[in-house]
Amino acid sequence: MSTYVILKHLHMTTAYLTVILFTLRLLLDAVGRPGWRQTPLRWIPHANDTVLLVAAVSLLFVGGWNPLTQGWLLAKIFLLLGYIAAGLFALKVTASLPVRVVAAVLALLQVSFIFHLAMTKPVLF
Ligand code: HEM
Repeated sequence: MSTYVILKHLHMTTAYLTVILFTLRLLLDAVGRPGWRQTPLRWIPHANDTVLLVAAVSLLFVGGWNPLTQGWLLAKIFLLLGYIAAGLFALKVTASLPVRVVAAVLALLQVSFIFHLAMTKPVLF
């Protein structure tokens, strides 16, 4: 298997894991189990997201992708920033419930759009 294919598998696996781990934490909070913050679930998503992003940047270098000429990649970067920001609010214990619910929906919408862009790679500019 080439380096590129290994990186792509790593990127895709951690991409699916980021959604699973985010949703799991949302669900635990929703059923009144905020104690996950005192378990390895506190740091495992951060470790996963670090690998996801390192694999993403590596794909750019190994694959010769350029976000300045590939609009879908640039859009992914902006949506990623939105996913991170919304995700922070969605899991913030001190935020009000309406803010957390709206943030959770926004985070899930943005990450869905990231998947859509990754799979279809539309020409945006
Ligand atoms: C939460 C963030 C991200 C998620 C969920 C995600 C998800 C995915 C998925 C599922 C694919 C495979 C699409 C397919 O071919 O079926 C993919 C491909 C790709 N991603 Fe990401 N991605 C994320 C962030 C990024 C970032 C920040 C970059 C770099 C700027 C990036 C660069 C790439 C590249 C270059 C490919 C193309 C691989 C190829 O088709 O050969 N990704 N991404």
